[in-house]
Amino acid sequence: MTHQVRAVVARGKGAPVSLETIVVPDPGPGEALVKVEACGVCHTDLHYREGGVNDDFPFLLGHEAAGVVEAVGEGVTDVAPGDFVILNWRAVCGQCRACQRGRPWYCFDTHNAKQRMTLTDGTDLSPALGIGAFAEKTLVAAGQCTKVDRAASAAAAGLLGCGVMAGIGAAINTGRVGRGDTVAVIGCGGVGDAAVVGSNLAGAARIIAVDIDDRKLETARKLGATHTVNSKESDPVEAIRDLTGGFGADVVIEAVGRPETYRQAFYARDLAGTVVLVGVPTPEMKLELPLLDVFGRGGALKSSWYGDCLPSRDFPMLIDLYLQGRLNLDAFVTETIALDEVEKAFERMHHGDVLRSVVVL
Ligand code: APR
Ligand code: ZN
Ligand code: ZN
Repeated sequence: MTHQVRAVVARGKGAPVSLETIVVPDPGPGEALVKVEACGVCHTDLHYREGGVNDDFPFLLGHEAAGVVEAVGEGVTDVAPGDFVILNWRAVCGQCRACQRGRPWYCFDTHNAKQRMTLTDGTDLSPALGIGAFAEKTLVAAGQCTKVDRAASAAAAGLLGCGVMAGIGAAINTGRVGRGDTVAVIGCGGVGDAAVVGSNLAGAARIIAVDIDDRKLETARKLGATHTVNSKESDPVEAIRDLTGGFGADVVIEAVGRPETYRQAFYARDLAGTVVLVGVPTPEMKLELPLLDVFGRGGALKSSWYGDCLPSRDFPMLIDLYLQGRLNLDAFVTETIALDEVEKAFERMHHGDVLRSVVVL
């Protein structure tokens, strides 16, 4: 059997997205059919629409989602119909060299559904990040579904599926922020703000938020930043040093993805400190640093892929903290919108007044 549902499709490079009827197959072995309840609008969706990821149009957009499992295919035991789940793009394989070494958060062979979702004329769709959740129903690998407490709001929970997890994980998993640490976060959009929240959860003593936009700094402060620096107005490296006894922060999280902000992160950390790059650069960007400084300053220069998260470990834990009132995921939901308003949400993204627009179905 197949299901005909409404979904947001990007048909060609730079063209506005359209609401289409798509065909979703019943789950085969190892797959799950999910009734989507909410899906956040992420920069990566826009990036797909602009042809910045690859040319495999048409794309089925949407990937920060939560919903309810409607059906599962043969051999699926981890989730069952009726489960409230967050979708992830790290369904670990258990077999690759990372998994075999006990580091599944680096899994190099993550799973997606094997069957294709299509347009009604049979054209294969390419789901964004192997998910495709701006749709009433989507088909994923069962491992892409992580069961969490049903009491959580779908709009908030879905955000853990991508950007918010990336930021929290950059602080907690990659940066290993601990009690009493000083942390600086450069770039306070959805990802950077989540890094602020993650640092706060981990017990950081001082959290310095850096951005070029005062509105972003205000939000960061509400989410737990203890200090803010507008790096258009003052040199962020000096400002961070001034706020840390002249030494620099223990952990600096770069959530922009540009050479100049990476350089700031590199020099704004204390000796033997850690830089975490969670912002995603573009292919033409180059970084130049004196090698002697790389050596002489010691410490660790790390990248954070998806916050080095392990969905089965991190999603239920973070949802529990959310339900206890210790993790304000609702603060990341700036507005809830309908399925046909994704294009408008892309436009709002440029104005910088939205952390996340979330499609609620
Ligand atoms: N210095 C400081 N902050 C900057 C600078 C800069 N030179 N340039 C931009 N910013 C700020 C913006 O003002 C904004 O607040 O960085 C923030 C970026 O936020 P968003 O555009 O909302 O992006 P976000 O979703 O947070 O993602 C950030 O992480 O996952 C990656 O691809 C994503 O590279 C992107 C980054
Ligand atoms: Zn693996
Ligand atoms: Zn995303």
